[in-house]
Amino acid sequence: MKIQALITILASYAGGAIAVGVSGAAEGFAKGVTGGGSATAVYPSTTDELVSYLGDSSARVIVLTKTFDFRGTEGTTTGTGCAPWGTASACQLAINQNSWCDNYQSSAPSASVSYDNAGVLGITVKSNKSLIGSGSSGVIKGKGLRIVSGASNIIIQNIAITDINEKYVWGGDALTLNDADMVWIDHVTTARIGRQHLVLGTSASNRVTISNNYFNGVTSYSATCDGYAYWGIYFTGSNDLITLKGNYIYHFSGRSPKVQGNTLLHAVNNYWYDSNGHAFEIGSGGYVLAEGNVFQNIATVVEGTVEGQLFTSPDSSTNQICSTYLGHVCQVNGLGSSGPFEQSDTSFLVNFSGKNIASADSYSVAQSSVPSNAGQGKI
Ligand SMILES: *[C@@H]1O[C@H](CO)[C@@H](O)[C@H](O)[C@H]1NC(C)=O
Ligand SMILES: *[C@@H]1O[C@H](CO)[C@@H](O)[C@H](O)[C@H]1NC(C)=O
Repeated sequence: MKIQALITILASYAGGAIAVGVSGAAEGFAKGVTGGGSATAVYPSTTDELVSYLGDSSARVIVLTKTFDFRGTEGTTTGTGCAPWGTASACQLAINQNSWCDNYQSSAPSASVSYDNAGVLGITVKSNKSLIGSGSSGVIKGKGLRIVSGASNIIIQNIAITDINEKYVWGGDALTLNDADMVWIDHVTTARIGRQHLVLGTSASNRVTISNNYFNGVTSYSATCDGYAYWGIYFTGSNDLITLKGNYIYHFSGRSPKVQGNTLLHAVNNYWYDSNGHAFEIGSGGYVLAEGNVFQNIATVVEGTVEGQLFTSPDSSTNQICSTYLGHVCQVNGLGSSGPFEQSDTSFLVNFSGKNIASADSYSVAQSSVPSNAGQGKI
């Protein structure tokens, strides 16, 4: 008998401590996603093996039972970047990627940078994959995940992605989608990331569910120089349906999320906690329905002028309108020590018709359950 199979069987006798399958199922827009389906689980032991399993063309269930540390695996680059936000020790610096410093920050002082090459570009993830962490042991350090163009049917569950060139803008993103369909990201923790914690690029990413994740913005190096990460969540796709449910979005100073392009966002039962900056930024083509969320200590819930459309589920009579399009009456949001969040655009609600829609609990349910349930190691 193979040792890994033996471990799995022993673990199941020990109470199922090692997860060998996806837990639960996606609700909302990516409902029905199957990932690697019933493929026999594989357990990578090296970074190379992990890269190979994620990037090959087989359907796979990939179980992480340890930390995969990519730092140092592709060398480091030392060079000249810039300091757009100043040179104080709490400020991020910028890598001169694609001449960004030269073209857009020409008045910023130059600064010497030294970053880990592995962080800059995420691991290629192809179609039909389930990537699952076992208990609280599945961690990827120093490199993110990049769902490649054209990929579909992907589940990423119960892992942590951490420590990607935290000091440097353009140092790398944790989770990237761009031209995809049917992706479910669940119970993932992200922390200490140089660029975006989550980004859906300008191509269509179609049907996506982002649930029960813990986006942790605590950082030693920030674009706002104050310990709060600025580059949180960026939804900029050209035809994206995003269910954002049950996430804990903690300690960001901006872009959490920025929504634009042609993106329909159902933000339901999330918990935003502690921001001295803003949570939402809604540009042209960003259509946001927010219900049953908690905003606690969020100075600016939505930044500036909403150039897209926003329905903030203001009160129980106005919220009846949701029944027609979502099949339930929307839930009011709960705001504590936070700025205003009041807008009632309704013409885009028709876009929810006929889609798979996540259920909604009251904000008080989110308040009591999200902080303890969100992120890696909780399932
Ligand atoms: C993914 O799996 C589906 C169903 O088995 C299959 O039709 C499709 O070709 C697979 N996609 C890729 C890129 O392998
Ligand atoms: C919303 O509906 C309009 C009209 O059918 C459509 O053009 C647009 O692409 C939809 N947007 C999204 C993000 O679903």
